[in-house]
Amino acid sequence: MSKDWERAYAEGDTPWDKGSAAPPLVEYLKGHQIAGRALVPGCGTGHDARVLAAAGAEVTGMDLAPRALARARKSAGADTVRWVEGDFLRLDAEERDAYDWVVEHTCLCAIDPAQRETYVQSVRGALKVGGFYWAVFFREVSHYDGSGPPHPIDAAEIDILFAKGFELIQCYTPERTYSCRPKGCEEVRLYRRV
Ligand SMILES: C[S@@+](CC[C@H](N)C(=O)[O-])C[C@H]1O[C@@H](n2cnc3c(N)ncnc32)[C@H](O)[C@@H]1O
Repeated sequence: MSKDWERAYAEGDTPWDKGSAAPPLVEYLKGHQIAGRALVPGCGTGHDARVLAAAGAEVTGMDLAPRALARARKSAGADTVRWVEGDFLRLDAEERDAYDWVVEHTCLCAIDPAQRETYVQSVRGALKVGGFYWAVFFREVSHYDGSGPPHPIDAAEIDILFAKGFELIQCYTPERTYSCRPKGCEEVRLYRRV
């Protein structure tokens, strides 16, 4: 059964929300530019979306859960982001071929592994040709018993999922992580849509 995200926000059961943007994204933005239109799927309350907007991107934060977006819209700096309630796995026509960047953090791990190919089709569908997919992948999730989310993903599966239609530009283990996520459990990759 898929997770009821709206209920999790209603009940305040949101352990993924650390109150700040993903440290690997903050680290990346110190040395690189993410410019143009950027989509953050599964943006939650919007920490990553706001940090991207502050760095100069024209950002859309998308999430299924109305309560997450209601919080995002009330946050400081909210008006720098376009917030969209929607299912990333079923993109509207206006979100297609529309983005220079898709920035992934804790959306893929939230999705049922059986839907990963659909997720990758949405990444490809959202990006303009030549656009970039920047992602923090969860390679390891402690005490994972298959019931997730979060669902970890291994390097071989990432390779297969993005083998067609994407060119791998960069792959590294981020130095900066939330303290609850030990270094090495996350991997950053940058792909270009070809
Ligand atoms: C683990 S939470 C991460 C939220 C945010 N990225 C963060 O780090 O705080 C996963 C988020 O993805 C959203 N989500 C799950 N499936 C989605 C889908 N198919 N389309 C859009 N959002 C989705 C959930 O509502 C939830 O806000």
